[in-house]
Formats: sequence, structure tokens, C-alpha cells
Amino acid sequence: MNYREPAQRLAGFGTSVFTEMSVLANEHQAINLGQGFPDFPGPDFVKEAAIEAIQSDLNQYAPSHGLPRLRQAIADDWQAQHGVAVDPDAEITVTSGATEALLSTLLAFVNPGDEVLFFEPFYDSYVPQTVFAGGIPKVVPLTAPDWTFDPDELRAAFNERTRVLLLNTPHNPTGKVFSRGELDFIADLCRSRDVIVLADDVYERITFDGARHIPIATLPGMWNRTLTINSTGKTFSMTGWKIGYVTGSADLQRQLRTVHQFNVFATATPLQHAMAVALETAARTGYYMELQEQYQARRDKLLAILGDAGLPPFPVQGSYFLMSDIRALGFHNDVEFCRHLVTQVGVAAIPPSAFYLDPATAPPMARFCFAKLDETMEQAAERFEQLAAVEPD
Ligand SMILES: Cc1ncc(COP(=O)(O)O)c(C=O)c1O
Repeated sequence: MNYREPAQRLAGFGTSVFTEMSVLANEHQAINLGQGFPDFPGPDFVKEAAIEAIQSDLNQYAPSHGLPRLRQAIADDWQAQHGVAVDPDAEITVTSGATEALLSTLLAFVNPGDEVLFFEPFYDSYVPQTVFAGGIPKVVPLTAPDWTFDPDELRAAFNERTRVLLLNTPHNPTGKVFSRGELDFIADLCRSRDVIVLADDVYERITFDGARHIPIATLPGMWNRTLTINSTGKTFSMTGWKIGYVTGSADLQRQLRTVHQFNVFATATPLQHAMAVALETAARTGYYMELQEQYQARRDKLLAILGDAGLPPFPVQGSYFLMSDIRALGFHNDVEFCRHLVTQVGVAAIPPSAFYLDPATAPPMARFCFAKLDETMEQAAERFEQLAAVEPD
């Protein structure tokens, strides 16, 4: 074997379509509605707290599982949001974003050959992370327009090798928020098949039109078998800070903490401190309400723009993503459409085949992100005017 050859677990995970689209977006100076992060700044009170923490020399390692003040603020948030009393010492671990939380929890619970079940389309890190942990990804489709799943198909996907169910709600890329009925059905299966749930709830604070996010951990009998993953990066528009956290029973936390300790050890201290201040401040002010209102206005703006552009969007109940139908413009292949859009029209979107195990089964859609300034979306709207005029390649 050549020394440069990568480990076998990396096979098939080279450059992604995200990289291709980012390169094309830069080359064509495109308006970027593809990348999933805000193009506006996070709040000043959070930035100021970080600056103050650095200047007060809160710059050495934090305890491995997180600064006590941040864990307390997270516990207070669970109490205020969901009425759940969480032990900040034993039931919360602070991680380097939700990405580390996902990988660390998978490494903590998945043995080689175990199956990890999730819905398709899925957040793109789920497959490589499952494989890195030695697991086998298994998917159950969500179907447009409501992104519902077939209960029989989900039931049939469980078998004696199923170890973990990975659930993301509000959902990237579809904007679906799983209903109480759907969560009850999923929870029932996980209890009866003795499966652990990793609940990726990073968009918990971004829901629309009264849709309510229900953490599956709060359903009867689920607390002890669920680890809930959140990311302050989404809630406070500071995705580059990578402060995530995992909440769940002490038993499950012990395993997760073993991985976290030898992988990351501890997450950046001043940023943890600032996120503690962020959670404490947001709890006393109207921050969460404002966040929701602003995102709802952005969503409505992008829905209207895409509708006018001949790219009818599917309904969105949460997250900052939506999917649009590309067929009315004569396209049937998502990657071709996104290449065309970025090179000929100057707008970047993400082809959903990046979120399917078999890219050939991806629907003729494109994912757009509305965590964007009004100006950004308006510039995109101007460019969309050329869409109809340009023939597909
Ligand atoms: C569904 C989902 N899970 C996890 C993550 C990763 O979050 P973080 O930036 O905190 O690692 C993202 C980021 O886009 C996401 O959309």
C-alpha cells in the first residue's frame, strides 16, 4: 500500500458538490443562496461578551464537558422552553458545534456493522460520520410536498442491527417540522426496538406560522434513550464559533464524554462564556421572538421571489432552508440546474442529490437558504429575471 493512500473509511468521501458549487459561485461572483449560514452579523451583546471574556483572561482550557455557567444557562433554557429539569453537571456536554456532537455520539454508541437509521434527504454529514464510526447508513424517504414518511416503511427499516435513529427536526434541507403524531410513532418504535435516538434539533428556535418544535426526548419514556444536539451557532447567528451542546441522561453522557475528552477535550473558553451570556440575555429579552419574526419575514420574501422566478417552493415550517421545484423551467436534473443557475444566472443554490444516498434518486429540486440579508435576496431576484430568458444548456 502506498503511504499516501487514505484510510478505507474515507473511500467515496472526496470533494462534495458543495465544494464544486462554492468554487463556481466564487468564479461567477454569484449571489450565494446555497451556503447554509447567515450573511448578517450576530448580535452585539454576544460579541461584546466574547471580547470581555478574552480581555478578562478566560483563555485557558474549560472543563472538558463545558463551562459551568454555560451548562447552567442551557439547563435553565430546557426548563423555560420545555419544562424539563436538566442536571447541568451530569446531563449536558458542550461540544465544538453540532458536527462534533454528532460524530462523538456516533463514535460512542455505534459498533462496526450496526445500522444507523435516518430520513432522506438528510444533513450531509450523517453518512460519512456513520461510516467513520463503523456503522451502516440506512434511510427512509421523506416525500414532497409535505415531506411525510410511510409508517410501514419506517417500521420495516428497523432490524436487530439497528442501533441508532438519527432524527433532525426542524429539518435541513426540507424545512419540515415533525408533528407530535410523527414523533410519537418514531418514539414508539425506538422504545420497542431498544434503539438510541440522536435528536439533531439545531434549528429548534426557527419555526414558523405557529409550528411547534417538540424535542423527542420529552416524549414519555424517551429521556433515557435520547441525546439531543443543539447549536448556539444557529440560534445566535455565529456559526463560525462552533459552540454546540448535547443534553441527555447521565448514563449516555458518560460514553459521549469519553469520546469528546480524547477528541476535542474542551471547546473555546471565551466563546463558551459568551454563549452563556447570550442564553442568559436572550431569556430575559424578546430575542427569540425577534429571531423568529425576522426569519419568518426572510422566508416569506424568498418564497415570493422563487414563486415569481418560476421555481415554486414547497411549504416550510422551520429551519432556514427550503426546496423549490425546478421542472417548470425545463430542468429535470438538480445538479445541471444548479450549475446552470450559478454559471449563467449568477445565483448559487445546492442540488439536493448531496442529501441522498443514491444521488440518482434525488428529486428535481434545488435547496435555497434564506438566512440572508434583504439586499442579498433582492439582488438574487434581479438576476432571476434572466432565468426565463436563458435556455437550459
Ligand atoms: C441539520 C444540521 N445539523 C448539524 C449542523 C452542524 O452544526 P454546527 O455548525 O453547529 O456544527 C448543521 C449545520 O448546517 C445542520 O444543518
